[in-house]
Amino acid sequence: MYVLGIETSCDETAASVVRDGKIIYSNVVASSLEFHKKYGGVIPEIASRMHLEVITRVTESALSQARLRLKDIDLIAVTEQPGLPGSLLVGICFAKAIGLASGVPVMGINHLYAHIYSGFLNKKRRISFPLVGLVVSGGHTSLFYLNDFKRIALLGSALDDACGEAFDKVAKIIGLGYPGGPAIEKMAVKGKPGIKFNCSDTNRPLDFSFSGIKTAVLYQVKGISRFGLWQEQAYSRRGRKRSPQVRQPSLQNKRDIAASFQEAVIATLVKKSLLACKIKKSRTLMVGGGVALNNRLRERLSREAGRAGVDVVFPDKRLCMDNAAMVAGLACRLFRKGFTGNLDLTPNLARSS
Ligand code: KG4
Ligand code: ZN
Repeated sequence: MYVLGIETSCDETAASVVRDGKIIYSNVVASSLEFHKKYGGVIPEIASRMHLEVITRVTESALSQARLRLKDIDLIAVTEQPGLPGSLLVGICFAKAIGLASGVPVMGINHLYAHIYSGFLNKKRRISFPLVGLVVSGGHTSLFYLNDFKRIALLGSALDDACGEAFDKVAKIIGLGYPGGPAIEKMAVKGKPGIKFNCSDTNRPLDFSFSGIKTAVLYQVKGISRFGLWQEQAYSRRGRKRSPQVRQPSLQNKRDIAASFQEAVIATLVKKSLLACKIKKSRTLMVGGGVALNNRLRERLSREAGRAGVDVVFPDKRLCMDNAAMVAGLACRLFRKGFTGNLDLTPNLARSS
C-alpha cells in the first residue's frame, strides 16, 4: 500500500511516500525557517504564504523520487491538527484538491500521534502495545497512553511553554540564535551544570511547566537575583541604561547556564515519562518531536529507562523534526478496507494535547 503524506502544520512544507506504513520511498521537506529567524519565532502569515508557494513542487518531487505517479497512490494523508490554522488550511486544501482530481481518498491525521509514530518507521524490530508516547516539540510537550493508534488517552501536557519553546526562549536570553534547541545543546557540551535550576511542580504529576525555569534563567543572566532585575528596571526608569551590578554573562557563564538549564529540563522529562510508564505499567516508551534530537536527552532517558526496565524508542534523527513520512506511515496503520476518504476535512482546531 502506497500512502502520500502531506504536512504543513507549522513552518515545514513536507511530502513523502511511504509503503506499507514502514518503508520510506521519499521524504521531502522545505522549511521557511530562514524567513522567521530574524523575528526569533515562527510568523504564521509568512509560514502559510511559503506553504502556498512550494507545496506543489514539494509534492511533485516526493512522487518523482518515489518513481510513482498520483494514480499509483492508494491514500493521501494530511495533517489536520494541531497547528497554525492558516498553515493547516494550505495542506488540507491541497490534499483535497489532488484527491478529488485523482479519485484517491484523503485522510486527516493528528500531528502529535504522527510524531509518536515516527519511531515505527524504518525499524525492523517489533514494538508492542500498549505503550506510553512522549511528544517534545516546539509547540507541545505531551504524554499519551496508547492501546493502539486508534485508542489514545492524554496523560498530561505542558501548562505553559512547550519544551522546545523553552529551549528557544532561553537561547534568546543568552544571545544564541533561533531555533534555540541545537544552539543550547552545543553550548552545554562545554558547560558545567552547577547552577540550580528546577522546573516548576504541577498539581497533576504528569503535566509539565517550563515557563518558571525560563524566568529563572532570565534572573540569573540579568542580575543573579530577582532584586537585581528589579534594580535594573528602577535604574532604567530613571533614564540610566544599566545598573552597575548587572553582569553580562561571559562565554563560560553561558555554557554553564545552557548545561544547567538542559539538565533540569531533561530531569523533568525523564522523571515524568518514567512515572507515566510506572502508573500505566508500560514497558515501552516512544519519544517524538524536535527535542528528541537532543543527544543528552537520548543518553539520559535510555540509561534511566533501562534501569526501570522500560524500552525507549527514539525515531531516526531525520524523522524527529516535522516531516510527512510520519503522517503517511500513521495513515497506513489507520486505513481500513472500505475507507472512502473525507473531502469535508477542515483544520481541526480542538485541543488534543
Ligand atoms: O517537532 P518540531 O519540528 O516542531 C513542532 O512540531 O513544534 O520541533 C522544533 C523544536 C524547536 O523548538 C527546537 O528548538 C527543538 O525542536 N530542537 C531541539 C533540538 N533540535 C531541535 N531541542 C533541544 N535539543 C535539540 N538538539
Ligand atoms: Zn511537530
